[in-house]
Formats: sequence, structure tokens, C-alpha cells
Amino acid sequence: MTKNQSPIVADPIERLVRSLKQHGVDGVDLAFVLGSGLGVFADRLEKARAIPYAELDGMPRSAVPGHAGRLVVGEIAGKRLVVQQGRVHLYEGWSEREVTRAIRAFAAIGVKGVVLTNAAGGLHAEWKPGTLMRVTDHINQQGAAPLLPRERGSGTPYDAEFGAALTKGAKEARVPLEAGVYAGLLGPTYETPAEIRMLRWAGADAVGMSTVAEAMTARAAGMKVAAVSCITNLAAGISKEPLSHAEVMAAGKAVATRFCKLLEKSVPHLADAVAR
Ligand code: HPA
Repeated sequence: MTKNQSPIVADPIERLVRSLKQHGVDGVDLAFVLGSGLGVFADRLEKARAIPYAELDGMPRSAVPGHAGRLVVGEIAGKRLVVQQGRVHLYEGWSEREVTRAIRAFAAIGVKGVVLTNAAGGLHAEWKPGTLMRVTDHINQQGAAPLLPRERGSGTPYDAEFGAALTKGAKEARVPLEAGVYAGLLGPTYETPAEIRMLRWAGADAVGMSTVAEAMTARAAGMKVAAVSCITNLAAGISKEPLSHAEVMAAGKAVATRFCKLLEKSVPHLADAVAR
């Protein structure tokens, strides 16, 4: 091989890592993954540079509306961030390895903390659409195993101190922030009322179709993990209204300002928490 030839890299994570570095995505401490309808936070970044997933070798691309499919690198309060505007889901047919590939790549380029965000159904009748919830733990009902046998861990992937940075940010932003347990289901169908009764009994506060595999992987890869659910609707049977993706998207838009404020104010605290 001559000096200027690049070696053929077969491993998709390594390919993605190479590609991220080639695009100058490096030296970033914090990563954010933005869920359905929550992509607006990426627009708040200063000195922002967007890289379409199509330009990133090995980056899976979602076909679900509301997922822009761009990586945005930029700054908030002088802290450099990388933001995933859109994710892929198990219910689209992607494997657990594909769904978590970007997370593995973030760890490999030196990211220390990841904030996962999602749209979710709420299991409390008093939680209006637009309620924001910090995820304190999850219930994995996806049947997916994204970890390697040697990564078998125990306990919750969500870091209490890193998550507390969101609570601090919420207070400063004067944005109400609930806390609770996220149940991750495979989807793509919304739950039945009977399933929601089961999840309430099991201790879930919110239900969605993402996040758990990414959270487990990020923790196993040595990063700190926090997550925020945007309650876009009351879960099946809690409200009489039938659910739709359009409703989820509309609620995401309505909450955008508060969601962005919460994350913006949290960034310095999140950066402090990973520096410790
Ligand atoms: N269930 C599952 N996923 C969701 C919901 C829901 O009610 N709302 C938004 N994502």
C-alpha cells in the first residue's frame, strides 16, 4: 500500500469513526441524540456545521418523518457539542448493532457524555402533552441485546450526577421537568390499553420506541448517560383519543422552545459533570 492509499476498513463502526474524523468531528465532550420532532435543538448551536448522514460512511439513515438525518457540530455556551438530528429505530428493521453504531463511534472519538431524547407517551393522566421528563431508569421491552457478552453490566445506565445537570438546567430555564421510568417497546404500533395497564403496574411513567439500546451501549462504552422524554400524548387507554405520528410531531413542535431552553441551560452543567 502506498502512503496515500487508505486501507479498506470493513468494520462499520471503524468506518464511521474514520468518516467522523475526516469531517472534523473530534475533540467533543458531549453528544445529543434528538428524537421525533425534537430536531430544533440543533438549530440553536453556534458556529454550527451540518453533515448529512449520507456523507458519513457507515451512518444508518432513518426513513421516519421528523428525523432530518444530519449530524450538527457546534457550540453552546462555549462548549463543543455533536448533535444527532434523527436516529434509526429497531422497528424500521435496523439491528441493535446498527441502531447503536453512532453511539459506539461517539465513544471512539472521545465523547464523554450522551443525552438521549425521545418522544414518548405519558402514563399519568395529569401529564399534559408537552410535559418533559428526565429519564431516571428504563424498562427494556424491546427484546434487543446491543451489548457484547463481555459488556454484561448491572444497574441502570443513567448516571445520577450527569442527569442532575438536566435538573439544574431546568431550574435555571424555569422549565418544569418531571422524572420517571421510560419503557422502551419495539413498535412501530402504539400500545394497546392492556399493555399500558401492564406498564403502569410495572412502574413505567413514559413509553416509547427508542433510547434503551443506545443508553445501554453508551454506558457500556464508558460514557455518562442521561435522557429526556418529551411526552407528546397520553398513552393508549389513558386518553380516549386515538394516537398518531402526526400528533406526536405536532406536540414536539409545541414543546420546542421549552425543550431547547432546558438543554441550552443544562449544557454547562453537563460539561462540568463529564469533566469530573
Ligand atoms: N407510545 C409509544 N411511543 C410513542 C408514543 C406512545 O404513546 N408517543 C410517542 N412515541
